[in-house]
Amino acid sequence: MELEQIKTEALQAEKAALDALAAAKSAAEIERLKPEILGKKGALRQLMRLLGQIDATLRPTAGAIINEAAARVESACETRLQELRERELEARLAAERIDVTLPSPSRRVGLLHPLTLTLREIERIFVSMGYSVATGPEVETEYYNFDALNIPPDHPARDMHDTFFLAPGTILRTHTSPVQIRYMKSHHPPIAIIAPGRVYRVDDIDATHSPVFHQVEGLLVDRDVSFAHLKGTLTEFLHAMFGKDLATRFRPSYFPFTEPSAEVDVQCFACRGKNAECRICKGTGWIEVLGSGMVHPNVLSHVGLDPKEFSGFAFGLGVERFAMLRYGITNIRCFYENDIRFLRQFAQRW
Ligand code: PHE
Repeated sequence: MELEQIKTEALQAEKAALDALAAAKSAAEIERLKPEILGKKGALRQLMRLLGQIDATLRPTAGAIINEAAARVESACETRLQELRERELEARLAAERIDVTLPSPSRRVGLLHPLTLTLREIERIFVSMGYSVATGPEVETEYYNFDALNIPPDHPARDMHDTFFLAPGTILRTHTSPVQIRYMKSHHPPIAIIAPGRVYRVDDIDATHSPVFHQVEGLLVDRDVSFAHLKGTLTEFLHAMFGKDLATRFRPSYFPFTEPSAEVDVQCFACRGKNAECRICKGTGWIEVLGSGMVHPNVLSHVGLDPKEFSGFAFGLGVERFAMLRYGITNIRCFYENDIRFLRQFAQRW
């Protein structure tokens, strides 16, 4: 074997290797090629094995030729690897680039339920007048829900409160009045509370009825509380709720736990009595919004208060009804179906 031949073959192997490196399209491909070109089975190492066939004096020169070719291939390999890695990194950075100046997709924030908004408004008004918020159990005894409120077992008022019985003597409360009994039993006058909460009545669902709904009841007990206080307080509340310029009307009514009792109407804020076809007041000009009255002496006696020393007034309202009036909602089912298109319309107010 001649030195010339070694030289030619070394150059050929080098060229083939350099061409392969130049043709490679990814760093991974170079990693794969490397052992093929420079490893034991690579053309240059194979050439080394032929050195034995060459004249001993020429061997160092021939060896150096192969080694130099191998060194050039190796350095070309590193350069190409570096180049491809950089190119790949750039491509990835370009692909993953985030334009921080783009407007972000808007985030959906939770809003308060219209019943919560209405309840909060009611609470805010009464708290501003010095009332506290009291709560009690939804599973009640007949005693707290009826007897203590001057509604004995055979009283016709029990029929008006179609009651869910859980066990004899145990029911789902039909109003939040029992909270007032519990509160009067554990606190001494002066008492000024509102009792918001869920109540239950056996009722078919229609546009204005639901077997589960929400009430806010109120109670004020002290010495020398008169019907004038009741009127003043509820008028103030209704003005804060529906507007100062609307008239209010107190109509005689009946509740077993209050005497005298009154239902309270507010002038129709939609038509002010001017539209005989008004959908909200049905042409009457008035909207019934509250039940109220002076706490019955029997109720005071039940909780150990002397009716000669103390007097008080109480009232009750339906939160759904208030919310329907406030937002012009005509179907009570809207509150419970949780249709996001409905709920999204009520902006959080505070
Ligand atoms: N508890 C009555 C009801 O649920 C409402 C009410 C409360 C009426 C206080 C008068 C006084 O129907």
